[in-house]
Amino acid sequence: MNEKLTVLLPHDTVAGRIRELAQQLNQDYQAIRAEDAPVLVLCTLRGAVFFAADLVRQLGFHCELEFVKIHSYQGTRPADVPTFDLGESICATGRHVLIVEDIVDTGHTMETMLRHFNDQKVKSVRICTLLDKPSRREVPGIVPDYTGFEIDDVFAVGWGLDYNEEFRLLRDIMVYHPDAEEKGTLRR
Ligand code: IMP
Ligand code: MG
Repeated sequence: MNEKLTVLLPHDTVAGRIRELAQQLNQDYQAIRAEDAPVLVLCTLRGAVFFAADLVRQLGFHCELEFVKIHSYQGTRPADVPTFDLGESICATGRHVLIVEDIVDTGHTMETMLRHFNDQKVKSVRICTLLDKPSRREVPGIVPDYTGFEIDDVFAVGWGLDYNEEFRLLRDIMVYHPDAEEKGTLRR
């Protein structure tokens, strides 16, 4: 057992909460089931991959799963505004968009995405996040529509979340405790 890791949310707790989120989404999106365009479920890479896979397999409405890579860094310096490229094949205009995110931290990433989709004149855009760290928020208006768990200001790993590409495959959601010298280098 790695002493840098402690369990935050055990596997069964997370799986159970994702079931509840799917039930909630099925209720909320029930009314638009008959529409032509499937709901665009947009999974942010790579952290949200497992969460999105768990979620979409429990959704009963017509949806389409797509992926988007967020670039929080330009060169070696953090970008003030994260960027992303949807690719030419994904057209969101006139559609309902459900962003599936691993964790909302400062809120800058979600702010950028919400702005993009509002400019695209989508029918609706909502955020479904597995984890939320509201105490870290720098963009106060960012409140996810669906949240698995609100957590304190800790560095969470597992269930898709990584620390420098490590710990993504852990079955539980765990807290990563950095060494003193690693503190301050945590990539958010
Ligand atoms: P935001 O723009 O600060 O809200 O950034 C959110 C992104 O930072 C998430 O999608 C994660 O990729 C990353 N992040 C923030 N906090 C954590 C954490 O505790 N563990 C792993 N990744 C994190
Ligand atoms: Mg993310």
